[in-house]
Amino acid sequence: MSVEAHGGTLINRELQGSQREEALKNAESLKQLAISTWTVSDLELIGIGGFSPLEGFMTKEDYEPVVESMSLSDGTLWSIPVTLPVSKKEADKFDEGEEIALVGEENGIIYGTMVIEDKFTYDKKREAEKVYGTTDEAHPGVKKVYDKGEVYLGGPISMLNRPDHGEFADFYLDPSETRKMFEDLGWNTIVGFQTRNPVHRAHEYIQKTALEAVDGLLLNPLVGETKSDDIPADVRMESYQTILKHYYPEDRVRLVIYPAAMRYAGPREAILHATVRKNYGCTHFIVGRDHAGVGDYYGTYEAQELMATVEDKLGITIFNFEHAFYCEVCENMASAKTCPHDKEHHVHLSGTKVRELLRNGERPPKEFSRPEVADVLIKGLQK
Ligand code: ADX
Repeated sequence: MSVEAHGGTLINRELQGSQREEALKNAESLKQLAISTWTVSDLELIGIGGFSPLEGFMTKEDYEPVVESMSLSDGTLWSIPVTLPVSKKEADKFDEGEEIALVGEENGIIYGTMVIEDKFTYDKKREAEKVYGTTDEAHPGVKKVYDKGEVYLGGPISMLNRPDHGEFADFYLDPSETRKMFEDLGWNTIVGFQTRNPVHRAHEYIQKTALEAVDGLLLNPLVGETKSDDIPADVRMESYQTILKHYYPEDRVRLVIYPAAMRYAGPREAILHATVRKNYGCTHFIVGRDHAGVGDYYGTYEAQELMATVEDKLGITIFNFEHAFYCEVCENMASAKTCPHDKEHHVHLSGTKVRELLRNGERPPKEFSRPEVADVLIKGLQK
């Protein structure tokens, strides 16, 4: 029996067949709103049920309790606003109750339609403080909030076209498909792994430690918008395939993309990440050090601590991991829980240092990154 979707029902807001044809024809005569790649990815995740129980972009009725206390108006746990921002000028073009077409600003594709139930202004500083824990513009997620339009349009959507995932199409499954896949594989317990980085030894260690306790691993890298100094998704995807080929048992792991944008909201985003993986059918989810963090905005285990406070509402079991490293004395991957030796014996490299090495064509030590992975990254970053 598969795990229940968040809120009880796996949402599907995608129209198909003749319904879709009709809606597309109808959409031609609707007022159009150009939406960013970020919004297209939110629309997609609502459409395919990744964001269940959301059926559209949040109205004020849901937005307010989400920001204030991480719950939708009906009390369901939800940690991050999923909103459709527009400028005041754009908002004036549309009326409440009106159906509009949502069109990709980059390609003119009609991705969906939305019935505007609500138009509301919001306090950006408050959203930043509550959701991101800081009002600092240097935080990439906060900067996004400050750069957005001042009005949110809320209401249910229908998805008419899915975004094209190009070279990643082979690794695209929607939540109903991953659920089916797990069933076909005979996996009853599945651990989900979120990442926006290549899989290094520490990631591999916590994944495999978790895998000892469950049937399968869903390696579910985020491939939507990330900040410019993160390693691009295409290079990462190649590195994932490489590490799986050389170091993982084929019948215990599946690689599927998570087409969302990265918020860098640390603890609150960790809750979103777990919720979405539950919708994809995972029973377990890994949270390690500084999950979805950036800079020094969050404490190392703040995500784990916040999640512990909502454990009863999550409906997915969290595997917490301490900071993992290679210990030269143990000659093993370890953490403070398993290794008694001094820090000087622990191989530790910052993300910045690793990128610098890779860009210079140098492999990080094999205790940090598998050489096959390092080679893919070196090649990819020098392109
Ligand atoms: S994230 O922003 O997508 O969370 P990242 O790819 O760095 O980024 O991390 C993926 C997962 O691995 C997160 O749960 C994170 O906490 C965990 N993690 C990353 N590095 C380590 C480490 N050295 N020790 C333990 N957990 C880690």
